[in-house]
Amino acid sequence: MFYSKLWVSGGLLLLGAAAVAQAKYIVPGARWRDTDGNLVNAHAGSILVDNGTFWWFGEYKIEGQEEGGGVSVYSSEDLATWTHHGLALEPVEGHRYISPSSIIQRPKVVYSEPTGQYHMWWHADNSSYGLLLQGLATADTVAGPYTFVDATAPLGNWSQDFGMFTDYKDGRSYALYSNGDSVRGRDVYLTSYNEEVTGLDAVVHRFDKFDLEAPTIIQTDKSYYALMSHKTGYRPNNVVAFRADSLSGPWSQPWIVSPLNTRTFNSQSGFTLRITGCKGTTYLYLGDQWDSNSLWESRYIWLPINIDDNKKTLAVEWHDVYDLNVKTGSWRPVEGKEYHGKDATTSGNAFKQEANFASGGVIVTGIEGNDSTVTFSGIEGTGKPQWVSFHYQNTDDMGFGDQPGGSPDRIGGSWQLRRVSSVVVNGNTESVETLYQRDTHKGIVLSTPLQLTLEEGSNNTITVGGLFNGFYYKGADLDKIVVYPPES
Ligand SMILES: *[C@@H]1O[C@H](CO)[C@@H](O)[C@H](O)[C@H]1NC(C)=O
Ligand SMILES: *[C@@H]1O[C@H](CO)[C@@H](O)[C@H](O)[C@H]1NC(C)=O
Ligand SMILES: *[C@@H]1O[C@H](CO)[C@@H](O)[C@H](O)[C@H]1NC(C)=O
Ligand SMILES: *[C@@H]1O[C@H](CO)[C@@H](O)[C@H](O)[C@H]1NC(C)=O
Ligand SMILES: *[C@@H]1O[C@H](CO)[C@@H](O)[C@H](O)[C@H]1NC(C)=O
Repeated sequence: MFYSKLWVSGGLLLLGAAAVAQAKYIVPGARWRDTDGNLVNAHAGSILVDNGTFWWFGEYKIEGQEEGGGVSVYSSEDLATWTHHGLALEPVEGHRYISPSSIIQRPKVVYSEPTGQYHMWWHADNSSYGLLLQGLATADTVAGPYTFVDATAPLGNWSQDFGMFTDYKDGRSYALYSNGDSVRGRDVYLTSYNEEVTGLDAVVHRFDKFDLEAPTIIQTDKSYYALMSHKTGYRPNNVVAFRADSLSGPWSQPWIVSPLNTRTFNSQSGFTLRITGCKGTTYLYLGDQWDSNSLWESRYIWLPINIDDNKKTLAVEWHDVYDLNVKTGSWRPVEGKEYHGKDATTSGNAFKQEANFASGGVIVTGIEGNDSTVTFSGIEGTGKPQWVSFHYQNTDDMGFGDQPGGSPDRIGGSWQLRRVSSVVVNGNTESVETLYQRDTHKGIVLSTPLQLTLEEGSNNTITVGGLFNGFYYKGADLDKIVVYPPES
């Protein structure tokens, strides 16, 4: 008999449990580490489920470089614990399509019954995005290494952001691709593969002139939903969805899948996953939180998708921390304990300001350097690593007139993208955590997590200051922090 501690709304309960629950939580936007302790490096990824194991393929990004890393592969039994298996597709020096300066983006893998091999497809390009091709490589085993076969123009056309979808009802696979930014392009194609998945057959549908990218399709028993982002490079925007009864359409009008002005919780679409367990089906959104300041450190935003097929609606839901059980096909949000900025103490020029959108109508602003800080006290801890989410507002889009480019909400604007805060537990300045806080919007509070170790008991403090982001030492405005129970 195992006992696991469960926190409910801040109260500590001791419950007897017949079995240990999921070992690990899913924490969107955290620094995810593999079983060796390294950052998971598999951007714009996709998941192949192979005999019950999840295989994550994604772009391997080298620090300081945009491209050239190849495709990395990880495996998991629970979608939370990831084991690295190295590079599934390794760049080849001097190769026309997979050299260290080639674009190898948005890889997808499918098992081909007729060939008895695993087939990897991706957006294959040169560094100026002038080729617009789709690459194919094959392997006898799922983790590879994969051998390059060819890079081709799909049915003679251009192909930029690449997606792949396999219909669970008949096993047929389809390619999704935006055909680029040229005036003649700006469409997204949905095209069927041949039986072998070695080439494309026929265009099934074309999403005309919406000028979208990063396409993916999620299937329910009744519907297909196609999710895509707008085209703002590494800056996030409002992802949209379309619905249809059949892949060939008719497809609905698009709608925005997340609360307005959150820019899809600061993420871009890329993949969706259907998890069918013994008790139900969960749909997951697997997005990227690109960090153009440091691409290799970009985070993953994986969230549950709420679909109502009767109302024909789909929404991506935010949860700081959730517990997904892939065996039952269900998930639950993890409850944390909140500490509000309203009740915290400020130092220096940091102060509490009226904000009708914040907890208790107050937000802490003016957090700057290490002498204008906010301290939350009386925090309950367990002595074990715990997820703590920092709910903040970053209004850099209001525009700092003296900064290059200004704000995105003005002509010719560009984004600063993030403020950086320092986080210190119990006044221990020997150990300073770095918290990236990306642009939100006026009145939009989003959160970003850190894993912290607090002392057991209720006398912990967390102090937040401002670190340098290239321009200034400001941290974002803080609404509240939420402390989650440790993973069992
Ligand atoms: C599938 O996984 C099970 C264990 O979960 C294993 O016994 C079986 O051999 C695997 N099948 C294949 C084809 O790899
Ligand atoms: C990429 O390919 C296009 C089309 O062949 C070509 O015009 C362009 O110069 C190439 N870019 C690089 C960096 O090689
Ligand atoms: C390529 O795509 C464009 C835009 O979708 C379309 O007008 C054109 O017919 C396509 N060309 C081919 C050869 O399919
Ligand atoms: C406080 O911040 C300043 C920069 O604003 C830095 O030079 C100094 O080292 C910091 N002091 C401590 C104790 O972190
Ligand atoms: C709580 O911590 C402060 C120092 O941060 C200390 O002065 C105080 O005695 C502690 N209180 C208890 C009850 O442990």
